Amino acid sequence: MIPARQALAEATARLAAAGVEEPRREARLIIAAALGLTRAELLAVESVDEARIEPLLARRVAREPLAYITGRREFWGLEFAVSPATLIPRPDSETLVEAALAAVPAPGRILDLGTGTGCLLLSLLHERPSAWGVGVDLSPEAAALAAGNARALGLAGRAAFLAGSWADAVAGQFDLVISNPPYIERAAIAGLMPEVGRFEPAAALDGGADGLAAYGAIYAALPRLLAPNGAAVLELGAGQAKSVSDLAAGAGFACVLRPDLAGIARAAVLMHRK
Ligand SMILES: C[S@@+](CC[C@H](N)C(=O)[O-])C[C@H]1O[C@@H](n2cnc3c(N)ncnc32)[C@H](O)[C@@H]1O
Repeated sequence: MIPARQALAEATARLAAAGVEEPRREARLIIAAALGLTRAELLAVESVDEARIEPLLARRVAREPLAYITGRREFWGLEFAVSPATLIPRPDSETLVEAALAAVPAPGRILDLGTGTGCLLLSLLHERPSAWGVGVDLSPEAAALAAGNARALGLAGRAAFLAGSWADAVAGQFDLVISNPPYIERAAIAGLMPEVGRFEPAAALDGGADGLAAYGAIYAALPRLLAPNGAAVLELGAGQAKSVSDLAAGAGFACVLRPDLAGIARAAVLMHRK
């Protein structure tokens, strides 16, 4: 056992040396997670067993994302289980939830393509108690994890998850189609921060040579998927606004871009042309 203050100082120094941003905050979170305490409970602890902290700390020093170590991440005020089979939900993606609710305030049927943890679909179902939805992911592990998140959030009765490629196995029409597809240019993945490039799944990042491969595939399916007054809301990366909206126009859709909190065009909202 060592004093809690010493454990915090040593963990902070190791995380800082490893290049982790916000090392003190993360050290506190790791120590609390290792000891099964909340951060508030940790404040009251005087001494800690460093052997319990070390395995988690070593993983973070190797730049594994904190969310994979704790297995949890908050999104839209809800708690999601995450695993190395899924992208860790990003605050920027909350822009899609807002844009979707603004475009279709009362959706009945929602389709989430590339669902990962299910965070987009489940946040929308949480907001709209009369809606139901389907989430699809290429990864069966991600689809299973999303189904577990639906159960944990009390939404399983209105959400179904399946493994497959985009909408290949999906029939019918939807009021909302939402997607945060992989959109990083393949050559750029190696230069991403280690937490992303080394630990998050390639299928969640790799958008092909130009980063746009998934948009072509999804846009091609939209004419049959989108109900007459429906909208599709897709996430895009910095610098992709023109390409993503040109592709939408080429596919015959009207397209409006919505910015995230940093002012970067983050969501493309597509509708049938009137
Ligand atoms: C950027 S992640 C988004 C995950 C989640 N929707 C979110 O916003 O956190 C993209 C997801 O698309 C999935 N994916 C990649 N290619 C796919 C395909 N052909 N069909 C279905 N899902 C695919 C990946 O497995 C990954 O879960």
